[in-house]
Amino acid sequence: MLTDDFGRRFYYLRLSITDVCNFRCEYCLPDGYQCDTDRQFLSLPEIKRTVNAFSLMGTEKVRITGGEPSLRKDLPEIIECVSQTPKIKTVALTTNGFKLTSQYQQWLDAGLTALNISMDSLIPEQFNLITGSNKLGEILKGIDLCLADGRAKVKVNAVLLKQYHKKQLDYFFDWVKETPVSVRFIELMETGDNKAYFEKQHVSGTTIQNQLFERGWVPVIRDKSAGPAIEYCHPEYQGSIGLIMPYSKDFCSSCNRLRISSLGKLHLCLFAEHGLSLREYLQQDDPQELVQAVSTLIHDKKATHFLHDRLTGATSHLSMLGG
Ligand code: GTP
Ligand code: 5AD
Ligand code: SF4
Repeated sequence: MLTDDFGRRFYYLRLSITDVCNFRCEYCLPDGYQCDTDRQFLSLPEIKRTVNAFSLMGTEKVRITGGEPSLRKDLPEIIECVSQTPKIKTVALTTNGFKLTSQYQQWLDAGLTALNISMDSLIPEQFNLITGSNKLGEILKGIDLCLADGRAKVKVNAVLLKQYHKKQLDYFFDWVKETPVSVRFIELMETGDNKAYFEKQHVSGTTIQNQLFERGWVPVIRDKSAGPAIEYCHPEYQGSIGLIMPYSKDFCSSCNRLRISSLGKLHLCLFAEHGLSLREYLQQDDPQELVQAVSTLIHDKKATHFLHDRLTGATSHLSMLGG
């Protein structure tokens, strides 16, 4: 198993397959940003070799991210390729849900086992303002269909934004009461290009944590390999609520993940300055050189990110790396 100098074990790979996105979430893509659609994103054979090599290093979970991964026409083939790789137990996808209703069956048939949908508000007007999309109703319908199907675990991610969170919190609580879904609130992170937005909109996850305690929610005992989200449950609610608080002090100590960008760069942290290109190793079927390269690079992984120091300018924006 791939292990770093701080004893953290990396069994989880987040693989971005495109930079392109059809939403324009306020916090993610800066005004006027144009995705470069001419870029050569990882091909299916390159993805296959990547996942195969990582499975040899102990990877058991692969999350496919973007941009918006469903904008790639070969997404079902990518899911199938990952799910057929020996030792991969979880094939997960993070999506904005735009194609959920029309494609979820194809994804599940291809072997998808976990689905995270980014949905920052349950109030249509707010959803439109945040994402630039009016598809909330359709996305909710897609979530119901996936839950009824039952083959994949479904989670919803909502970024906490000061301007909106108070009004929408009760909507989320009501929804989770009757819906067996896991909703995770994510603290807005400061990236290289969203400083002003961050200062205006960042809310600490502790405000939600306090409300959860007041309303009788209790933390779920965490598995050692659980990763950075903290989960809460409540006996009267079918669903659960989680918090992803990258600004809390121990956040990185349970880091269990590595990231590969859509251009084939290994990022040891979401906030690692520059990715380290693995592309030259992805041109041959023999995984040994890739395994060797990653096993050496892993020693460069730092103990924590630098959000606490406000040392930003690191990651350009998260759409490149799928969060
Ligand atoms: P599970 O695999 O279901 O546990 O979810 P996940 O949190 O690994 O994946 P998801 O794509 O749903 O992540 C949600 C968001 O949380 C990401 O897009 C990031 O914004 C944030 N996040 C997840 N993992 C990390 C991490 O390791 N570091 C930081 N800083 N943020 C993260
Ligand atoms: N801070 C926190 N989460 C972010 N995401 C994108 N940008 C940010 C940010 N600046 C999250 C989205 C989605 C995932 C793909 O990344 O909400 O859940
Ligand atoms: Fe697209 Fe996701 Fe970024 Fe929103 S957060 S713009 S859905 S990549």
